[in-house]
Amino acid sequence: MASRLKPFDPGFAVYVHWPFCLSKCPYCDFNSHVRAKPVDEKRYVAAFRAELAHRAALAPGRTVSSVFFGGGTPSLMAPATVAAILESIASHWSMAPGAEITLEANPTSVEAERFRGYRAAGVNRVSLGVQAMNDPDLKALGRLHTAEEAMRAVEVAASVFDRASFDLIYARPGQSVQAWRAELTEALRRAPEHLSLYQLTIEPDTMFERLRDAGRLTLPDTETGRQLWDATQELMERAGMPAYEVSNHARPGGESRHNLIYWRYGEYAGVGPGAHGRLLTPRGRVAHSTEKHPEMWLTVVEADGHGLVENDLLSNEEQGDEFLLMGLRLAEGIDPLRYEKLTGKSLDAGRIASLRDDGMIEIAADGFLRVTSEGFPVLDAVVADLAA
Ligand SMILES: C[S@@+](CC[C@H](N)C(=O)[O-])C[C@H]1O[C@@H](n2cnc3c(N)ncnc32)[C@H](O)[C@@H]1O
Ligand code: SF4
Repeated sequence: MASRLKPFDPGFAVYVHWPFCLSKCPYCDFNSHVRAKPVDEKRYVAAFRAELAHRAALAPGRTVSSVFFGGGTPSLMAPATVAAILESIASHWSMAPGAEITLEANPTSVEAERFRGYRAAGVNRVSLGVQAMNDPDLKALGRLHTAEEAMRAVEVAASVFDRASFDLIYARPGQSVQAWRAELTEALRRAPEHLSLYQLTIEPDTMFERLRDAGRLTLPDTETGRQLWDATQELMERAGMPAYEVSNHARPGGESRHNLIYWRYGEYAGVGPGAHGRLLTPRGRVAHSTEKHPEMWLTVVEADGHGLVENDLLSNEEQGDEFLLMGLRLAEGIDPLRYEKLTGKSLDAGRIASLRDDGMIEIAADGFLRVTSEGFPVLDAVVADLAA
């Protein structure tokens, strides 16, 4: 059986975090900060260069299959800043032919004007944060753009870039299943090759958490949440864009190659404030994360040449848990033999049998273990059971 495990390389990716936004959305707990004064982008470029050199020394000779500018709002960066960072990446590693280079953009008209500059810098894919298709809901989400402006940005993106995606948030305060079905149907008429559909999560220490706790935010109950999920899967499958990951849908071939590297437990370098990385070093698989506060990160990088605050060798068991946590999010599932290779032990046969009996997981003909459509709405519990 063990011979079935083919050498499998999910690829090598670089994540670049830009931590600034024009305003803070009330639901968001990403590492994003609002600054009254313009950001000194030249100083940031120098710090990004230093961090890239540092990671390249730890992971030399790789071929980069994907770069992702995430945030925050990377579409606030000058195209010249993006170009300088991409040049630095290409000076340390070789770029795979046709490497995916994605930039997360907020869909305002000002940002759409910069799209051509990003393309000239080397970006070939954008991910737009549309979030909702009507103005009252966009306002309630604290967004600075209108629905019309967002759709215009989607059109501009389609004319400028080879590939595009947009994000919507559902299960919003007061949203009915009927309203979401109509909204998603409308979104599908405008959809590029990829859509990310996130169920609203109330994150700790956000404005939405404070409003909910004060009884001023009425969210869909668990049953409505499940109906919203089911409606999403139904409409997306019918449109030929099934989920390839819990919240991500694509036409065949339109999947985000960058995120697939994370979910397939590949290797990635993360640079910028609060970025995470996983590198295969001679010591073993190492978990990295950097100082989150932007100005503090700058100071530390300028002094030490990197902003790492976490640089930990992962035990076999930790790697196994991470592999399950990431891989079971994917419709394709995981190869149990890769789990064995990472951890030196097999998955618990008794737990597999009981999850199979409950209809939560299945073993495909290729030996991959995957979560079923019944299991996905309770994915956290399924992963916890298998990883225990
Ligand atoms: C890094 S964020 C934002 C990118 C970009 N700044 C924007 O706002 O358009 C990526 C995506 O996560 C989703 N997201 C952020 N916070 C969320 C929450 N609390 N619940 C559900 N989705 C969330 C949004 O759809 C967002 O576009
Ligand atoms: S959702 Fe996007 S724009 Fe809003 S605060 Fe978070 S990162 Fe910034």
